[in-house]
This record gives sequence, structure tokens and C-alpha cells, in this order.
Amino acid sequence: MQPRLFSLAALAILGHASPTLRAPKCTDSIASLTISATNFDLSSGTPPLNATIPVSGTFDVHLRFCEPTVSVPSRAGTLQILVHGATYGADYMDAGFEPGIYSYVRYAAAHGYATLNMDRIGYGASDHPDPIGTMQTPFDVAALADIVRLARAGRISGARRSFHTIVAVGHSLGSFVLNGLVAAEPQLVNVVVLTGYSHTFADIDIPALAGFGPANLIGPARLGGLASSYLTTANASARAAAFYGPEGSFDPAALAFDESEKITVALGEFLTAATSIVASKFTGYVLTVNGEDDLLYCIEPACANLKGEAQYYPSAKSVDYGELASLTVAVIKNAGHSVNFHLAAPDLYANIHAWLSKHGY
Ligand SMILES: *[C@@H]1O[C@H](CO)[C@@H](O)[C@H](O)[C@H]1NC(C)=O
Ligand SMILES: *[C@@H]1O[C@H](CO)[C@@H](O)[C@H](O)[C@H]1NC(C)=O
Repeated sequence: MQPRLFSLAALAILGHASPTLRAPKCTDSIASLTISATNFDLSSGTPPLNATIPVSGTFDVHLRFCEPTVSVPSRAGTLQILVHGATYGADYMDAGFEPGIYSYVRYAAAHGYATLNMDRIGYGASDHPDPIGTMQTPFDVAALADIVRLARAGRISGARRSFHTIVAVGHSLGSFVLNGLVAAEPQLVNVVVLTGYSHTFADIDIPALAGFGPANLIGPARLGGLASSYLTTANASARAAAFYGPEGSFDPAALAFDESEKITVALGEFLTAATSIVASKFTGYVLTVNGEDDLLYCIEPACANLKGEAQYYPSAKSVDYGELASLTVAVIKNAGHSVNFHLAAPDLYANIHAWLSKHGY
């Protein structure tokens, strides 16, 4: 990898020039969701072609609704729903580490968007069901669909209104879930933004690089009570190797914070994260944005693999990525997989919001 001292210097200057983002007014709540889904039979260790196992139950999910800090009347009925990936919870989109710079929630709030952030079921303060039988992507999709329906119906604590426009923003495994959602229930969201994600990816063993193992052994103090198939990354250096760009692309204190707050992913989710789903009936807008140093989802040169994304959304209004988004930073320079913990995080947020604005959202 080539040194990128010039762009780093430019970033530092931009960083100093950008104002600190204000904390929005937020409401935390626990919603009880009754979910039915059809999962896969994982008794052989790998999922069969078709899902056949019905699962259902009532599960608590931690939601965090935040109001905008700046009023933009055209966005009053719009909600951004934020869907974190593996080993992260609500903190991924609303980092406790220097949130004035790193928090996606604060950036969206400053641009007039309400957000609904969460610990998905199986994460953080939400319930932790069976990590193999229950925690699979069909179940995750059903849970997310229920949350979107609550938002559309005006039933999110703190919101006191319904939303007619849903912009869903995913990261990594959260993007897989979003992709499943727009394939299964194409009318539920208007716009989908997928980060740390592509249908095609490099041949790299990220789980080995990240040293995934039972969270109850790796982090017994915080994660000791969980079933052994709830996994997490081995240590800070393994996490950096798998999720971060080269030295200099992130503040080591951001990695240290991320390591100290890291949570889990259920094995069943990993085993069922399908890469071939075509959202044939989704008619909204799609944007895919990755860090250029994302080992898995940004294949050289310049995330060329993203050019294949359009075939997975044949009915979309537009499927944008990289240079086709007509924005200079749609492939985020100097960032690895977990872009939100990199110095370039504000570039990602600016890119997404410029694109939303361009499409009238
Ligand atoms: C899977 O489902 C598809 C579509 O319903 C069906 O055509 C196919 O035969 C099924 N495959 C298996 C192995 O059950
Ligand atoms: C971190 O985890 C990796 C992957 O499991 C392992 O190879 C490495 O030795 C660990 N490093 C430290 C400092 O414990």
C-alpha cells in the first residue's frame, strides 16, 4: 500500500476546520417485538439452499430515537434508520469516542434528519436469543421489518409522529440485513445506503484475521454471561488488522475505545449472511460506499467490484457507487472496513448526505 501523507495532511486541516457536532435530544426505549421468520436448518454446519425452520417469539430490542438539531422542514417526515454490523451496537453510528467528530447520528441531526439507532436483537442491551437457531439473517430481516413498521406507524418512543420516508443505512452485516429487507419487503424503505458491503468480495479469511472466538472467553468481564456461539474479535491488533485501514488512517485512541466497547456477533448470522440476494422489486435509490482499504469489500483498483452492484437491484431508481455517485469521495480514501472509527468518518457522512440531498431526500 502506498503512503498517503498528502491526503492525511489535507484531512487534518479539514478536521480542524469542521465544527464540533452538537448532541441531539434522544430517547432510549425498549420495544417488545413479536417476530416470526423462517430460518435455516444449520444442523449440518452450513445452511441448505432453502430456509425451512419456522421461528417465532417475543424479544426486547433497545432503540434510540434522536431528533434533528437543525430544522429542515422538507425532512420533517424522514427518518434515517441505522443498522450496525457484527461486534458493534448503537455505538457504531453514535460513537462515544469524540462524538462531535465521529457520530453519524450527530451529523445526520445537524442536517435535519431524525435517526433511529439501535442495538439489534442479539446485541448490546437487547435480548440475546439462541445464537444459532434464532439469530440468523431471516430472523434479523423480520426484526428490522417490524422496527420500520413501528416507525411508519408513529410508534417509536420519543418520536411522537409517524414517518413517511425511511432512509436505511447499514454497515457490514447490517448491510446484509438491509439487503435482505429490501428484497423481502421492497415497499418498507425508500432509500438504502450500504456501507462496508458488496455482493462480491475478496478472497480473504476475515474471521481468521480478526481472531473471532467465543466472547465469553475473550471478554469474560463484560461478555461472560453469553452462550459460546456469541463471538467477538480476539484483541485490538486483530481487530485493527480486519476492520481498520493502515496506520495513520485512524487515531489509535479510537481503536482503543472501539476495542474496549466491542460486543458480539451470533455465529448463526455469519453462517446465513447470503451474498447473492437480488432485490428485484425494490424501486428506491441505492448507494454503496466503502473505505478504499476495506480488505473484503473494496477490491483493487478503487473498489471496482462495486460496479457489479446494479445487477442486484434491477428495479431501483438508481444504484450508485464510487464515481457514478458523481461525488469525489464515494470511495472513502484512507479508511478500512469500519469507516466510522477512522479519521475519514466525516468524509463518509458528507458523501452520504450529499447523495441524499442530490436525490431530493
Ligand atoms: C428451494 O426453493 C425453490 C423455490 O421455492 C424450489 O424451486 C427448490 O426446489 C427448493 N430447493 C430445495 C433443495 O428444496
Ligand atoms: C491477537 O489475536 C491474534 C489472532 O487470534 C493472535 O494471533 C495474536 O497473537 C494476538 N495478539 C496479542 C497481542 O495477544
